[in-house]
Amino acid sequence: MKAVIRFRVNGREREILTAPARTLLEVLREDLRLTGTKQGCGEGECGTCTVLLDGAAVNACLVLAVEAAGREVTTIEGLADGPSLHPLQRAFVDHGAIQCGFCTPGMILSAKALLDRRPDPTEAEIREALGGNLCRCTGYQKIVEAVLAAARATAGGEGGAR
Ligand code: FES
Ligand code: FES
Repeated sequence: MKAVIRFRVNGREREILTAPARTLLEVLREDLRLTGTKQGCGEGECGTCTVLLDGAAVNACLVLAVEAAGREVTTIEGLADGPSLHPLQRAFVDHGAIQCGFCTPGMILSAKALLDRRPDPTEAEIREALGGNLCRCTGYQKIVEAVLAAARATAGGEGGAR
């Protein structure tokens, strides 16, 4: 038996017919073709599948799609404003915080959730917020510097990183 779920994804109303056991990650990637959200461990350990659910960072591999019904999901595809990168995306590029890029969408969305609630975080707060996001390539320092730079770039502006 399948269930119809209606939710907003990157500001757009979507309706999906899906088996109740499917994860939000599966629906985003396979049904909506939003493949910016990556599948790594599938067990809540690596953070590559991180998306925002009503503004909070969650591991989409651990959320059933039906749990997103009536809620707002943001994926990495929802951050840029047309050709203009989000300040976090720009900072990751400018600071060399992207190597293979597999962890990057999840890192940026975890960072966005942090900056939305804390526009001027300390380095320790950034490291804690990104603690569930694993990166094999960068050694993390450049990622932390990118988040600090994005926070500075948007501080005192329109309430933090958009
Ligand atoms: S794929 Fe979801 S946490 Fe690793
Ligand atoms: S940039 Fe390769 S895993 Fe992070």
